[in-house]
Order: sequence, then C-alpha cells, then structure tokens
Amino acid sequence: MGEIIEMNSLALFGGNPIRTEPFSSWPRPTTKMESHLMSTLNNDGWGVGSQVNREFCSAFSDFQEAKHCITANSGTAGLWVALKAAGVKAGDEVIVPAYTFIATASAVLMANGVPVFVDIDIETANMDANLIEDAITEKTKVIMPVHIGGNPADLDAILAIGKKHGIAVIEDAAQAHGAEWDGKKVGALGLGGMFSFQTSKNMSAGEGGAIITNDEAFADACFSYHNCGRVKGGKWYEHSFLGGNFRLSSFQASMLLSQLETLPSEIETRNQNRAILDKALNEIPGITPQKILAKVTQSANHIIINRYDKSEFHGITRETFFAAMQAEGIFTYQGYTPLYREQLFITNTDEYPWLKGYDYGNLNFPNTEKFANEESIWLRQNHLLGTKDDIQDVINAFEKVTQAMNENPELFQQYEKDKK
Ligand SMILES: Cc1ncc(COP(=O)(O)O)c(C=O)c1O
Repeated sequence: MGEIIEMNSLALFGGNPIRTEPFSSWPRPTTKMESHLMSTLNNDGWGVGSQVNREFCSAFSDFQEAKHCITANSGTAGLWVALKAAGVKAGDEVIVPAYTFIATASAVLMANGVPVFVDIDIETANMDANLIEDAITEKTKVIMPVHIGGNPADLDAILAIGKKHGIAVIEDAAQAHGAEWDGKKVGALGLGGMFSFQTSKNMSAGEGGAIITNDEAFADACFSYHNCGRVKGGKWYEHSFLGGNFRLSSFQASMLLSQLETLPSEIETRNQNRAILDKALNEIPGITPQKILAKVTQSANHIIINRYDKSEFHGITRETFFAAMQAEGIFTYQGYTPLYREQLFITNTDEYPWLKGYDYGNLNFPNTEKFANEESIWLRQNHLLGTKDDIQDVINAFEKVTQAMNENPELFQQYEKDKK
C-alpha cells in the first residue's frame, strides 16, 4: 500500500488522476504485417485457394499443436461450423456456461440446437465442471466450455465427463490463443475448438476465426460447412451439405500470419505484467484476482478479471469503484451479464419449435448472478502490454481508490446518494 491518501487527491473528487496517458494501443500494425498485406495484394489470390490462407492454417495449427485448421470469417461462424460438423441436429442440446459472450449460445441456436446453461465456479468464472453431469440428457450432443478471459476451464474434468457419456467436447477458445492446459495448447484437446480474430482479441485481423482439431473427419466436415457445402476433393460445383460462405479472406490470413511471429513475445510481456499485477492486487482485502487452476500452464491473459467484495469496502458499490478508477485514468468495467437473461432467448417457438418447453426466463444461477451483477471487474489486455511503469499505474489506482474507500467511506456514500 502507498502512503495515506488525502481525500481531495482522489480524481473522482477533483484531485489529480494517476494516469492521463493512453495505454498501449490495440490492435497494432507492424511493418511485417504491412509487407505481408502488400505481398498478398500483389502476388496471391485474394480469397479462396490462396497460398497465404494455406500457410496461415498450417502455421496456426502448428502453433496450437493440432493437426488441422479451418479458417472462418468470424468466431461466431466458426462455432456454427464446428457445431454442425459435430453433428448437432435440430433439438440437440449443447451445454454452455451461463457467463460468456453471446456467440457461445447464439451459435447453438443458429445451428438449430438448444443451449443448456450451466453455472460458473465463482473463483475461476469458468463453467463449473461439477454441475455438468446434472445438465446432461439423452439429447446432449456437445459440451462447450469457454476459456473465459483466456484462462482455461477445468479440461481434465470436462474431457472425462465427455468421454464417460460419449459426448463431444468443443472448446470455445475465442479468447485463448496460446493458452495451455497441463503443458498442452488448448483448442484441440477434445473434438476441436474455435479461436476468434475479432478486433479486441490477442490475435486480430479485424474479424476472423479458426477451428482446430486432430480429427480428420471432423476437419473435413468443417471444411464443407464453411465452404458452401463443398466436399474436400470434390468438384467446384458439387454441394453435399447445407453450408455457407464462411471463408477468411487472404488479407486477413496475411495479417494473422505475421502476428504469429509477435505473439510469443507478447505472451511473455503479458505474463510478466500479470504476475506483478496479481501479486499487488492479492494484497488488497476485497479484491481477488481470477483463480487460475494448477493445471493451467499458460493463460492467454486476454481479459484481466478480478472480483470485488463490497463488504470489505463499507458496502460501497462496484459501480462507484468503477467511477473512481475511471477518474484515475484506469478503465475497469463489469463485462458480461448473465447470458440467459438476454431477450434473445425468449424466442418464438414457431420459428424454433424444438425450443418448446425450455424456459430460460426462469433460470437464476447464484454464482453467475453474483459474479456478473456484483463482483466482476474487467480490465482489457492492452494494460498488460506496456512497461513496468504502466502496470504500476494500474496498481497505484487500485490502491489509491480502495484505500480511500476504506478511510473515508462517507464521501463515497454521499457520492452514491447524490447520484440517485
Ligand atoms: C467467448 C467468445 N465466443 C465467441 C466469440 C465470437 O467471436 P467473433 O466475435 O469473432 O464472432 C467471442 C468473441 O467475441 C468470444 O469472446
């Protein structure tokens, strides 16, 4: 903890902020990326059949330690393709965590499946593997864990459940480039997994996605669904599946290829800064960094997730904490809300007849609710990409704000009253 904070020094109450400079920008172009893009523009096909797409597929599957890679034009499309390739048919159930980005569940609906939500472990914010077996029915086709924030879910437990019940596991690894479970890269530890290359992700082409797998038949089915239903090795105008055009363009592939060269050093920088940050935040009663399971040998550190316990701060709400942090120049925020509460899940059963009898409106998972509505504190990964001084600014803001909340709670309580 730093020295005693004078209340009037808090930026929320008119003092000087800790930080006025922006953090490392993201995504960021490199000269290598520019030259790859220009080379594709001038020397390669711009879409289907391009050399660079093949090169990227091969390099990405090597990097993620998988045999096959099928690129897609978004992570959402990649999830749909993977679910269809796994054999999801109308009315089949797919088990997903209740705390994730919408696409994890909406891709299931788009594949005519039924998302079945499972609560999270509040310490890791990942799907609670202990609750999965209760959610399995004779209709369950896929279990889809998400590595939230790039921090792998309990894959030993989840893969064992999948194996025991003969249910495929598809990892939503949208946020988990380079992450490892027990020394092995995530994504192809079950049947397969999907990565996103949307703007904010640790590898970005603006938009894009990829599926990886070690299963050739699954890879071939993914190829078909992402490529208009064409069959690998078949004729150009031969279509055996109801697929779509979900292909990645060559320009995106060329941007991604160059990022595979910079990713390892970025992972190292994120690791070092995350270790410094977590050590400091662990010293603050009431702030708890996301738990990383012992078998996680590498987190992708995509979102820096922490928990806020207002009982340690005189009942001052997390939203007031956010306001104080923001005033200090550090943008922290809530992140996801409980997914099953989205209007989207109150769907028209004329449109999706197999959803008849599923009542998402009645769901109320205690950990997901508490985590999302009261505890989660998110910080974007670009805060980890700067210098030691940058990460110290983040720490200083956490310390300054929490110390002030402890020493002068009345000021914050008055602030909350005035806001009402
Ligand atoms: C957990 C998760 N699943 C799926 C997606 C979908 O990826 P995309 O935005 O590339 O469609 C995202 C990314 O936003 C995500 O974070």
